[in-house]
Amino acid sequence: IVIRKAEYVASAVKYEQYPTGGLPEIAMAGRSNVGKSSLINRFLGRRNLARTGNTPGKTQTLNFYRVNDAWFLVDLPGYGYAKVAKTVNAQWGSMMENYFKKRETLRAVIQIVDIRHAPSREDVEMHQWLRMRQVPTMVVATKADKISRGQWLKHLTIIAKALEIDDASLILPFSAQTGAGVEELNESLSEMGLV
Ligand code: GTP
Ligand code: MG
Repeated sequence: IVIRKAEYVASAVKYEQYPTGGLPEIAMAGRSNVGKSSLINRFLGRRNLARTGNTPGKTQTLNFYRVNDAWFLVDLPGYGYAKVAKTVNAQWGSMMENYFKKRETLRAVIQIVDIRHAPSREDVEMHQWLRMRQVPTMVVATKADKISRGQWLKHLTIIAKALEIDDASLILPFSAQTGAGVEELNESLSEMGLV
């Protein structure tokens, strides 16, 4: 995929606000502050397209970005942010559930985890939930710049085990800081037929 064009299209909290047109779609799921928005920016080569930040909970809505006029990347709000009120958490739950249930054009989810840590309970639950719903899911372990390359496999193995993924090499190490993994991610999305 050569990124010729990448543009913000819409933010949504409910179905009626999702962009129409039927283009295929890839969504990013992961904990608050894990680096979803940064991955989008790095992958698309646009520094400030998706808003990023040091405080968790930066992305509060579903944000749709159209790539090459051909497909959407969706930045989802993060889960597992303890400080938000219970009511907000419930809203988050129904917003996400609606999205995964109703979005017919959703092709795959990229679940982003932090390469440094064993997956959280929410990471595991999210992964199992996607598996149960038979949503094709790819796991990306980001912030790979924070540990040495020699340690990557050890960490990927821990993540694979917790998520019950047979082969740690199916998990893609990534860094929004260095660009590690960008080409591999690009290849995976190409294989899905995205252009
Ligand atoms: P929410 O929108 O709150 O759910 O967070 P998010 O998952 O979109 O995270 P975001 O991209 O805003 O990044 C959170 C913080 O992590 C920011 O301070 C980023 O600069 C930092 N960060 C993201 N990716 C990387 C990475 O690959 N390496 C390093 N070193 N820092 C990163
Ligand atoms: Mg974000």
